[in-house]
Amino acid sequence: MLDRRRFLTAAATGLAASLALRENLFAQLEKAPSSLPDHSLLDRNEDLYWSELRKQFLIPEDEIYLNNGTVGSSPAPVLRAIFDGYAATEKMDQQDPEDYPIWGYAAWNEFRDPLAEFVGCNRDEIALLRNATEANSYIANGIDMKPGDEVLMTDQEHPGGLHPWDLKAKRYGIVVKKVKLPLPVKNAGQVLELFSEAITPRTRVLFFSHITTFSGVVLPAKELCALARSKGILSAVDGAHVIGMMRLNLRELGCDMYSSSPHKWLQAPKGTGFLYVRDEVIDRLWNTIVTEGWDEPKLRAERFQRIGSSNVPALWGLRASIKLANDIGLERIEHRHRQLCDYILAEMIKRGGESWTSPEPALRCAIATVNVPPVARMELENWMWKTYKIRIRGGDPNKLRLSTPYYLQKKDIDRFLEKFDEYKREKNA
Ligand SMILES: Cc1ncc(COP(=O)(O)O)c(C=O)c1O
Repeated sequence: MLDRRRFLTAAATGLAASLALRENLFAQLEKAPSSLPDHSLLDRNEDLYWSELRKQFLIPEDEIYLNNGTVGSSPAPVLRAIFDGYAATEKMDQQDPEDYPIWGYAAWNEFRDPLAEFVGCNRDEIALLRNATEANSYIANGIDMKPGDEVLMTDQEHPGGLHPWDLKAKRYGIVVKKVKLPLPVKNAGQVLELFSEAITPRTRVLFFSHITTFSGVVLPAKELCALARSKGILSAVDGAHVIGMMRLNLRELGCDMYSSSPHKWLQAPKGTGFLYVRDEVIDRLWNTIVTEGWDEPKLRAERFQRIGSSNVPALWGLRASIKLANDIGLERIEHRHRQLCDYILAEMIKRGGESWTSPEPALRCAIATVNVPPVARMELENWMWKTYKIRIRGGDPNKLRLSTPYYLQKKDIDRFLEKFDEYKREKNA
């Protein structure tokens, strides 16, 4: 049994450690500049502008993070907003005795309004959920389909997009059909042709990633949705990567449903996602997680976000991440994403990498994918991280997927390239 003295010592050590951690985090937030760099700096000294913005992020200066595609990093304004959310709600002193910080039964218009404006739709078409996986599950689970009905998708879907349909296939006998995307996709016409050819009289849904996890290709979503509409087929787009990476206007896109994970490129808190359902389609979608209001059509998409007690301060962070992107300017962010991606891609091609990224600029943005045999990606990934604090990701056996978020510095990319060369020399690869 733990004696009293040892117990007290252990408790004191634990407390000191957690206090140190807390001070450390708040000290880091204090250190971040209290305002963003002026846009005029961008014209005068582009590198300086982005390196000033980099100071808003907790990622240590000596770490190079090339995997924003899996998960982003919430910067100081977003983290501060989350803590403000806790400070405002956890005292349990709300004016209204029916107002609680966990409230998962509310309209949350103060969060849906800025999001709806940011992605070009109406607030009532948005449900705030936790991530794209959850939203994709709502889509697959919520559409009525008969055995033998088909959903058509690509062979590059993320498990969080594919498996909700696999479940439906196993449980209800629907059919999952896939078009094989070329590596790389050369142009939009190629994709449209593949989908057009694969549509059958049983196709009920076109489901595809706006930007695929596998190669980062930006699919011609608007044209694919129009194709679906022209054939009376529902379109559902997995846009996990899109929000915050590039301009998104759902009304213009013309899709019936859209899912996303702002924790990636919008640098929003983890656990903030959304489902968009076009107003005309809302009444056709069954709910998945249900509580009060589940069968109340006048709630529109709000009925999908009623998931019980929830984490409201995270939504404060989501709202702050939208404000941050607006303050920087999404065109500037997108331009920077493309610039860095084009740079790393060109450099990797010079080094013999086989590009799986589209040569068509409109079909790529901030993810470059290169196949680099005989370099084994997992070995390289471990070596980069353990030796040089460079964090990359890819797919076995030889694919590297390199993400270029706006906060990455050109010198970071150069360092990665230098270490890639060193690795190849050392391993004779
Ligand atoms: C295209 C796509 N869909 C869905 C997901 C799953 O995202 P989340 O884990 O945020 O639900 C990812 C994650 O990388 C993705 O790339």
